[in-house]
Amino acid sequence: MRKVFFFALLPLTIFAAEKDELFKKGYEVYKRSCSACHVEYMSPQEIRKIRMTVMRGGKPPISAPPMNEVSARVKHFYPNELEFVEFVKDYITNPSREKGVCMPMAFKLFGVMPPIGKTLTEEEKEAVAYWLYHRYKETWRGMKREMMGDMKGKMMGR
Ligand code: HEC
Repeated sequence: MRKVFFFALLPLTIFAAEKDELFKKGYEVYKRSCSACHVEYMSPQEIRKIRMTVMRGGKPPISAPPMNEVSARVKHFYPNELEFVEFVKDYITNPSREKGVCMPMAFKLFGVMPPIGKTLTEEEKEAVAYWLYHRYKETWRGMKREMMGDMKGKMMGR
């Protein structure tokens, strides 16, 4: 009985060292295949500045949403890790406006991303999606609050 239990759980159990490997591999994939468009991190304040520029008719200095924003936004819709990973693997392979959960403004500004996942192996897609889930701790609500807080502060002369 014990044996059955152990083997049943085995496929779900990725040991800490392997998770570390997956995370590192995911970062390599990010640097090679995603970083040309997605910057790794941008503070909510910087993102807000870019939004203001765009609202005034200016051009954004980036060509895709920053990865911390992408991670928080996708987690807002797919909080479960397995569903998040499945969504990302599928989206980067067959992206479309209908499936996408980015802000409407992102689609308007940058268009739908290219199917870059078609150039990656199944393992590389898994790794980069895993990395994207675990690399960031910010929540979408938290990011929005920071952007709003900053805006209120500015209006009140702070
Ligand atoms: C040529 C530029 C480009 C590259 C390279 C690129 N992306 Fe994107 N990505 C975009 C743009 C533009 C958007 C926003 C529009 C959209 O969601 O399709 C986006 C959006 C996303 C989203 C959010 C999808 C949604 O729900 O709307 C995810 C997740 C994502 N990218 C992951 C990746 C990963 C992982 C890689 C690398 C394997 C990558 N991207 C490489 C341009 C790019």
